[in-house]
Amino acid sequence: NTNESPINPTKYREIISTLPRQPNVFAPPLDQYIHKYQGFWFRTTMLESIMSVHEHFTPQPTDIIICTNPKSGTTWLKALCFATFTRTRFNDFSSHPLFTKSPHDFIPWIEISANRESELPVFATHIPYTLLPKYIVELKCKIIYLSRDPKDLFISYWQFMCKLRKEAIPLETAYQYFCKGINSCGPWWDHILGSWKASLEFPEKILFMKYEDMMNDPFSYVKRIAEFMSCPFSAEEERQGLVQKIVNLCSFETLSNLEVNRNSLENSATGALKIENNSFFRKGKVGDWKNYLTAEMGAHLDQITEQKFSGSGLSF
Ligand code: A3P
Repeated sequence: NTNESPINPTKYREIISTLPRQPNVFAPPLDQYIHKYQGFWFRTTMLESIMSVHEHFTPQPTDIIICTNPKSGTTWLKALCFATFTRTRFNDFSSHPLFTKSPHDFIPWIEISANRESELPVFATHIPYTLLPKYIVELKCKIIYLSRDPKDLFISYWQFMCKLRKEAIPLETAYQYFCKGINSCGPWWDHILGSWKASLEFPEKILFMKYEDMMNDPFSYVKRIAEFMSCPFSAEEERQGLVQKIVNLCSFETLSNLEVNRNSLENSATGALKIENNSFFRKGKVGDWKNYLTAEMGAHLDQITEQKFSGSGLSF
């Protein structure tokens, strides 16, 4: 199995057992606890994977790393990057590989496939910037970071976890934990701030984007992603409408209606979690939080965000 990571599941347990831990209110039964490691909380298996990445993943200077907090729109970004990067090879947009395979099958997670099993030099991760292996930064791999409004992200995450767990998680409990930053890869604010600050320092190395901005103007963002990946669209390609074709191909509307993404087959690229393809497509809307959170809950999250981002130049 090419997706098998070289993780020895118990190898890191000893170190992990010494870390502060909390019950994981979001987790599937697989991970009972969430552990604090270098300022971030991770599910047990996620933390084992991170430790394994540090030991086994050997980045190349030409690698491009897609970095996100879970539920920021990673699946969408994977599709966009794949279609953009391979547009010369896969130039038939009426029978594209994305019609028959999940975006996750083309761009692997380094935490799951640390052995670099990928045709493309493009990988994805949920590991926060400050915890990425040092050599990713030193080798100057490019990083594309996608962020998302925490209110929508929280609702997306909560819904996703309920589905994965196959039982309801009380919204109020999940909300309290999220606000305290105790969710896998949280605190959400710190995850974002690490990449945001680095993107200001190394703008040529880190492209920092927001889900809402991409939704607003996907055309401009596809062009920006292509430039950042060093494969800008030529004038001729633009005349052929290639940018718009990629936008359409990767839209929520198109991808979520494809048989491959509607089915409940477990995606092997998602590792031990065994996530069904259709779990990555829910609504794809901005502002859906209003259907679940009270105005007070939304305002409280905004308040935390304002406070945490104060002076950083970043806002949501
Ligand atoms: P919602 O739950 O709010 O609908 P991730 O890929 O990081 O797990 O994020 C999943 C979120 O992105 C889900 O948000 C999902 O519906 C949304 N999404 C998936 N594909 C998308 C697309 N092509 N365009 C916009 N949003 C998309």
